[in-house]
Amino acid sequence: MLIAHVSPRTMGKTTNAAFLAHAMHERGYPMIGYDADHSQQLTRWDAKAKFPFPVLGAASETFHMNVPKTLPPDTIGMIDCGHAEDHVGVTSSVLRCADLAILNSSPSTADLYRIRDLPMRKVLDDVAPLRLDSKPPETWVLLNRCPPQSNSKAVPDARKWFAKRGWNVFTTTVPFLQQYSQAIPFAVKGAGSHLDELVTEMKDRGLIP
Ligand SMILES: Nc1ncnc2c1ncn2[C@@H]1O[C@H](COP(=O)(O)OP(=O)(O)OP(=O)(O)O)[C@@H](O)[C@H]1O
Ligand SMILES: [Mg+2]
Repeated sequence: MLIAHVSPRTMGKTTNAAFLAHAMHERGYPMIGYDADHSQQLTRWDAKAKFPFPVLGAASETFHMNVPKTLPPDTIGMIDCGHAEDHVGVTSSVLRCADLAILNSSPSTADLYRIRDLPMRKVLDDVAPLRLDSKPPETWVLLNRCPPQSNSKAVPDARKWFAKRGWNVFTTTVPFLQQYSQAIPFAVKGAGSHLDELVTEMKDRGLIP
């Protein structure tokens, strides 16, 4: 199965892709990371931190033709995309074959408006006719870099904003914490992170085996 991290611009994709891949690896899922970003941040992070699973370069508009056939059965491919604003061809190619798309966003209005204005919904809908099932990939929003204060209205407001526009939003959120902001280029521990909670939620929702 292929899980794609997407967003119009810098919105936490690489950090969440790396932590989620580690959390899943630690739970026994065979993992491969795919770096579908020309900036190769995930590749450079792996080179320094030595991830316990392979990370393969895949920033190409032919991703859908080349990558799925290389993925061993029962292995999860975690894909880190680049900016959909600048490299929509690569993101669209990834979305043609992704089983699950995770739209990363902070709860800030700047990020929400960017998702609206790209428009991210259209990027997902446009790939539908090019997919085997003729539907857009199942897509869930992962709110990240959230204010850690429990009295902040940012997360509930962002949830409402997405829900009103028909997006699925994960219950799990990732707070703005030094643990994540300083993660690159160090080794990653998925267990105990918010991304480990996300694995539980994804399982409970039937999104992953
Ligand atoms: N939960 C978090 N708390 C604090 N800082 C975070 C968190 N998640 C990511 N960051 C920081 O935010 C910045 C952007 O994150 P990241 O590089 O993962 O985004 P991206 O979407 O992959 O960006 P790009 O598209 O430019 O590659 C980085 O400096 C990262 O360390
Ligand atoms: Mg990145």
